[in-house]
Amino acid sequence: MAEKHFKYVILGGGVAAGYAARDFAKEGVKPGELAVISKEAVAPYERPALSKAYLFPEGAARLPGFHVCVGSGGERLLPEWYTEKGIELILSTEIVKADLASKTLTAATGATFKYDVLVIATGSTVIRLSDFGVQGADAKSIFYLREIDDADKLIETIKAKKDGKAVIVGGGYIGLELGAVMKINNFDVTMVYPEPWCMPRLFTAEIAAFYEGYYARKGINIIKGTVAVGFDTHADGEVKAVKLKDGRVLDADIVVVGVGGRPLTTLFKGQVQEEKGGIKTDAFFKTSVPDVYAIGDVATFPLKLYNEMRRVEHVDHARKSAEQAVKAIKANEQGKSIDVYDYLPYFYSRSFDLSWQFYGDNVGDTVIFGDSDPASPKPKFGSYWIKEGKVVGAFLEGGTPDENKAIAKVAKIQPPVQSVDELAKEGLTFASKI
Ligand code: FDA
Ligand code: NAD
Repeated sequence: MAEKHFKYVILGGGVAAGYAARDFAKEGVKPGELAVISKEAVAPYERPALSKAYLFPEGAARLPGFHVCVGSGGERLLPEWYTEKGIELILSTEIVKADLASKTLTAATGATFKYDVLVIATGSTVIRLSDFGVQGADAKSIFYLREIDDADKLIETIKAKKDGKAVIVGGGYIGLELGAVMKINNFDVTMVYPEPWCMPRLFTAEIAAFYEGYYARKGINIIKGTVAVGFDTHADGEVKAVKLKDGRVLDADIVVVGVGGRPLTTLFKGQVQEEKGGIKTDAFFKTSVPDVYAIGDVATFPLKLYNEMRRVEHVDHARKSAEQAVKAIKANEQGKSIDVYDYLPYFYSRSFDLSWQFYGDNVGDTVIFGDSDPASPKPKFGSYWIKEGKVVGAFLEGGTPDENKAIAKVAKIQPPVQSVDELAKEGLTFASKI
């Protein structure tokens, strides 16, 4: 079987991989030195599009429109770009074995790839209901969403089951974005999640109340505090209904499940140090194994601002960790040093006409400000998180670019607050003054 050798191999073909390829090119990688190996069939793209405009019934986003790096206003890297730069883009190739001691990766086809420096960018995979033994979870038309293939299959079924009933299992990012997009596709939508409110990883009860109210006004039915325990199927294996723990049964033509992700670290188990479910790195994304770096969703890195090891499953960090790792690799070769990674967590989401951004840390006391009435013609509101007398996190729905910049600055600078009541009254003005 063929064996190829590259100076640098990026394992994975998602967001972090695409940005890393761009950054290697910026740093002057020579033709033939770099390979990107991906199990996906297409060049790296901006994954967030898959749960948003990719699923629109009209004017949908399609490749090549959203290849990286358009999501951050950068150059769009078409497959030809890799050819021009002499970067080998090895697609539809799943690596099934990684031997870090001999610096060898083995593909499902049996092909092997040797490297001098490896950048692990394998991202996450979905948690499946079958992982918790939910009965009937392998029925047809139950979907998960991670890669473009998943989205394409979902689109086919949306067309086949036109104007049908959709049940969304999970009240996180996927749940809220898919709930909206299925409604936009004219499905009758019910969302089900176990927690008392949606997006509990980030939202306060007040923030969640706005989105739940807004979704209800769009005609989405929300069932909280229970989980799917089984599925009924038609004779052809298609899903027919979702059985809930509280005894209710919901008719369904399509089910979309978003019950969390899990970083893809299995190839490296026992070979590299792990922490908090991810591959442990330093502030340059270097792992415990020499010449092996890990970026994006899989990396557990020192978050300087909070003096804590964290893993972040969002696109902004995928992009920035790629840049930091490539700079570090090149600096290392030149015997130079670079600054440590100093990341300000940034998450965002969009659905219907809504758009929010969050910066910083969601710990401590909270205040809400602005108009969070879901019935308002143009709702606009935000929230601050206050810890030890300082503002450490800020959320804003419906902000302008300048206002979003202002809340980012607040989260970074962590200004002291004298009175929480004053802060609630001042609202955005507080951020704009910083
Ligand atoms: P990513 O998942 O992008 O890439 C991993 C790549 O590795 C894939 O190409 C995969 O096929 C490949 N791979 C894995 N194992 C392999 C193997 N053994 N062999 C070969 N290839 C392998 N974030 C955000 O901030 N805002 C948003 O709006 C969204 N929206 C969003 C929508 C959807 C549908 C998803 C699934 C995720 C988001 N995210 C998001 C999260 C964001 O997309 C995510 O954090 C980044 O894509 C992470 O980038 P990585 O490169 O680490 O993984
Ligand atoms: P998530 O962690 O955001 O949400 C998981 C949700 O699953 C929980 O909030 C809970 O409501 C629900 N849940 C857990 N167990 C359940 C059960 N047994 N039955 C029903 N519901 C259950 O994960 P996700 O929404 O699946 O997203 C997957 C990944 O994709 C994450 O890494 C996420 O960050 C990423 N993503 C991000 C964005 C964004 O940043 N805008 C958008 C889409 C996806």
